[in-house]
Amino acid sequence: MNSSDDLRRGPVELVVRHERVDDHEAVREVHTLAFGDGERVPALVEALRAAQPALAPLSLVATVGERVVGHVMLSACRLDALPRLVDVLSLSPLGVLPEFQRQGIGSRLVARALADADSRGVPLVFLEGSPHYYGKRGFADATESGFRPPTLRYPPGAFQVAKLSSYEEWMTGTFVYSDVFWALDCVGLRADVSQPS
Ligand SMILES: CC(C)(COP(=O)(O)OP(=O)(O)OC[C@H]1O[C@@H](n2cnc3c(N)ncnc32)[C@H](O)[C@@H]1OP(=O)(O)O)[C@@H](O)C(=O)NCCC(=O)NCCS
Repeated sequence: MNSSDDLRRGPVELVVRHERVDDHEAVREVHTLAFGDGERVPALVEALRAAQPALAPLSLVATVGERVVGHVMLSACRLDALPRLVDVLSLSPLGVLPEFQRQGIGSRLVARALADADSRGVPLVFLEGSPHYYGKRGFADATESGFRPPTLRYPPGAFQVAKLSSYEEWMTGTFVYSDVFWALDCVGLRADVSQPS
């Protein structure tokens, strides 16, 4: 299989391929504009690229012509199962440039990320996100399958998992983020205690 997928669906002609070093600046721009949250998400992506985990990260871009319009990252985390630790992946972040949203690009990035994780033999991909969005794209409520979240700060339904072909029934336990997510405080939502509720 080629390292890139030709995707000709909907109104945009889209290619999904592995990120290259010369994409880094454009990926930073995608997340800066998509999240509108300053350095937080670009810094997360850079730290995840630099980490040396058990499973190599997977970083995919969606391009239209020469332009990088979307990006998704899968990075190594762990499931603390009873018999042993299991190497799993976290899907974070996913971003699409605002003017390219709602054209199926995020969906294609998620589908390709799950297919690549599956072909690497990874059993589980976890994320925190909208159940409305990810529930239609291969993910389901992880708590309902017996997994424990890494924090009590996840909103209801946000802790989700995709079970891939090498998943086995004994693989259940607590999902543990890599240090990078904790170091950059990117796990769960924090209450704004400066504002009265
Ligand atoms: C979430 C996101 C990646 C979706 O990408 P996309 O290419 O627009 O998504 P798709 O076209 O594949 O899917 C369209 C769906 O997303 C929803 N959607 C897309 N952009 C949206 C937005 N800005 N606000 C709310 N919903 C949005 C659409 O309503 C549609 O819903 P459906 O599942 O009921 O059909 C994109 O909106 C984004 O970058 N958002 C900002 C960053 C973010 O929140 N990332 C996810 C958390 S890591």
